[in-house]
Amino acid sequence: MEATTLSSYLVTGGAGFIGANLTELLLTDSSNKVVIVDDLSMGLKRNIPKSDRVTFFEHSITDHDFMSKLLIDEHFDYIVLLAAIASVADSVERPYETHQVNQEANLSMLETLRVNKIPFKKLYFASSAAVYGDSPELPKKETMAVKPLTQYAVDKFATEREVLNYGRLYNMPVVCTRFFNVYGPKQNPKSPYSGVLSIMMDSLKDGKPFTFFGDGEQTRDFIYVGDVVKAIRGLVETPDARDDVFNVANGQQTTLNQVAAALENLTGKKLDATHKAPRLGDIRDSYADASKIDHFDFMQHTSLSEGLAKYVASVQDKA
Ligand SMILES: NC(=O)c1ccc[n+]([C@@H]2O[C@H](COP(=O)([O-])OP(=O)(O)OC[C@H]3O[C@@H](n4cnc5c(N)ncnc54)[C@H](O)[C@@H]3O)[C@@H](O)[C@H]2O)c1
Repeated sequence: MEATTLSSYLVTGGAGFIGANLTELLLTDSSNKVVIVDDLSMGLKRNIPKSDRVTFFEHSITDHDFMSKLLIDEHFDYIVLLAAIASVADSVERPYETHQVNQEANLSMLETLRVNKIPFKKLYFASSAAVYGDSPELPKKETMAVKPLTQYAVDKFATEREVLNYGRLYNMPVVCTRFFNVYGPKQNPKSPYSGVLSIMMDSLKDGKPFTFFGDGEQTRDFIYVGDVVKAIRGLVETPDARDDVFNVANGQQTTLNQVAAALENLTGKKLDATHKAPRLGDIRDSYADASKIDHFDFMQHTSLSEGLAKYVASVQDKA
């Protein structure tokens, strides 16, 4: 019988919300194995699926020597760069640290791959809708001018460009996405910006007060994490999907007040809401033109009502 060769994935940030959901999805294919590097600054060890096809290193991606050795020794087929200080608010508090993690560490990995001529099938980087800033033009399209307004957004845009430049200049197979607001199981309510929906859910569950920064009429484009991880897998495993950046979103505008009402409906509880002034760096309205990634068959769109129902069920299961 022929021995099966496993496809190897490196997932940085694999103990985090999106990384853990991705690892779970990758393991459904018995020909995949996953190495996770995460310093657990935001991710949780219990998020990591238990499997002999998962190896976990509790380590920072800013450790150049460690990451270089790992890339040189392992020769991964797929490299998925998700580790980040993923909160815009945190990046306003800790701009230099954000830069070191969100940009420098990723550039250092690209350089290791280039200098050592390490072959791989695809390198993927997770950028963000934050790069569009507060330009009034809607929907946000990949070709429009960017306006990164925080350190988080600056580093996401810079790294996205670096990844694409390494692809172009050194013929590396690379691809990037700009996520809009991702929600779903395993989201850590401690993450104060991208997880607005999970903080709301947490408040409803425990009867804690919830603060709207603004009137709650600000809009976001929410996408279910199950759709996001299928998009990542699809992009890395599709050879033609390369040298490009894709919005990953539903293409729909939803107010925070609408999300609150839907969650109240699903849980049968009332949110104890207060309002404060909008925060520095927060963006009022955002939704995507997601037509570019929709050309691929792997892209799926779970409706907000279905996604929220799955999310609420996952939180109630844990209670
Ligand atoms: N969730 C969203 O709505 C959203 C939107 C846009 C972009 N993104 C991007 O997607 C990626 C994943 O986001 P997420 O929502 O899963 O966030 P998350 O905070 O749950 O996951 C990020 C992970 O990176 C880890 N990490 C942070 N610093 C690290 C370091 N120095 N070394 C190793 N690991 C480190 C954290 O512990 C965490 O597990 C991030 O790059 C984020 O910027 C997310």
